[in-house]
Amino acid sequence: MNVHDSDRIRRMIQDAGYAEVQRYEDADLVILNTCYVRENAVDRVKGHLGELNRLRREGRVKRVALTGCIGAAEESAALRQTYDIDLVLGTHNTYELAEFVGLPTMRETYTPDLPGTEGGHNAFVTIMTGCNYQCSYCIVPTVRGRMICRPMESVIGEVERLVAGGTGYVTLLGQTVDAWRHEGKRFCDLLEAVSESAPRVWFTTSHPSNMEDRTLRAIGERETIVKRLHLPVQSGSDRILKVMHRGYKAERYRRKIEVFREAAPEGTLSTDIIVGHPGETEEDHEQTLRLVEDCAFDSAYIFKFSPRRGTEAAGLPGTVPDAVVQRRFLEVLRQVEQNAFTRNQRKVGGMEEIYIRHGSTEDGKAIGETWSGHAVHVNTDAEPGDYVKARIESAGPHVLYAGEPDTSL
Ligand code: 5AD
Ligand code: SF4
Repeated sequence: MNVHDSDRIRRMIQDAGYAEVQRYEDADLVILNTCYVRENAVDRVKGHLGELNRLRREGRVKRVALTGCIGAAEESAALRQTYDIDLVLGTHNTYELAEFVGLPTMRETYTPDLPGTEGGHNAFVTIMTGCNYQCSYCIVPTVRGRMICRPMESVIGEVERLVAGGTGYVTLLGQTVDAWRHEGKRFCDLLEAVSESAPRVWFTTSHPSNMEDRTLRAIGERETIVKRLHLPVQSGSDRILKVMHRGYKAERYRRKIEVFREAAPEGTLSTDIIVGHPGETEEDHEQTLRLVEDCAFDSAYIFKFSPRRGTEAAGLPGTVPDAVVQRRFLEVLRQVEQNAFTRNQRKVGGMEEIYIRHGSTEDGKAIGETWSGHAVHVNTDAEPGDYVKARIESAGPHVLYAGEPDTSL
């Protein structure tokens, strides 16, 4: 979501006549588009702001704007006192940046439901913003607001324009995309329609309570949908899931995964897991390990609980000591990596059609993606957006390695 927002911001300031540079010291204007989901994101922004203060004193950088989720949070006021910031914007008024960079008011042009860069081989399409859940630990509903779903015609219109302009891969975006609904239509209807208009489709991120079996089956059945599901579980313990207000039990999550595995046996499954939520006991942690084992995730983003001011969990008793959090983190990580490694090994020897996401670097390796959603390193000078066919020669826990592409196929 932030990459997509940054993309729109980039387009806006380029329209105002700015050129993009790679180093702060070469910039007149710096826009920090920020994340607030965990404290380490804030720490990083503070580091950047400190450096920008120094460059301003030296006259190298003239103006600094702070946008995104920190901008929408109360904490931005404190940052403004400590650092030199000319403009702070939240998540709903990015268009004000237009005026800041000398463009006419763009209230209509740069609202969140409008497209990012067009014509790229790979494009994000926002289908909903905000979130109607209230997970105990999460700041997103506070900084992004309640769910707003974009009308189906508007989404399809954008997808068709993108595809006509050369986009070969469309990713539908939102905090809980599977909660999308509009005028009687549900997410699966939208996904099916998009899968008919675009040659390659993926979506992120989903909520288990909204994920319908119909959608899971569509992933398996529809040729244009990448067989990769990201379904954040957060914990394997029913007790913690309840404290988190996730709205499902571990068993229901397991059943969803069974449907997915049956629908797309070759597909990949990833998740988000939080370790060390207040009150998490050893037994809760064991249940998370068990769930990880049962679901055999192909990858997982594991997070140490980070208290966010204003969320329910920040005020809950039962803080888990850092050393315990660290151990649990490593235990979950090890479990995920073992499973992922074993599953990836099964891909070795197979021929794959690989979509090139990033062209080759100096070492000649491009990064691509199979239809099953596996990341692959492949030796090719094919351009982003091209497809190549190659045999998988080896595999690690995170990525597959392909041999020379077969050009005769
Ligand atoms: N602490 C740790 N992880 C968090 N996430 C969201 N809020 C927090 C928090 N306070 C994680 C969740 C979510 C992902 C995007 O970030 O796992 O799915
Ligand atoms: Fe945050 Fe996701 Fe829960 Fe919404 S569903 S509150 S975005 S973790």
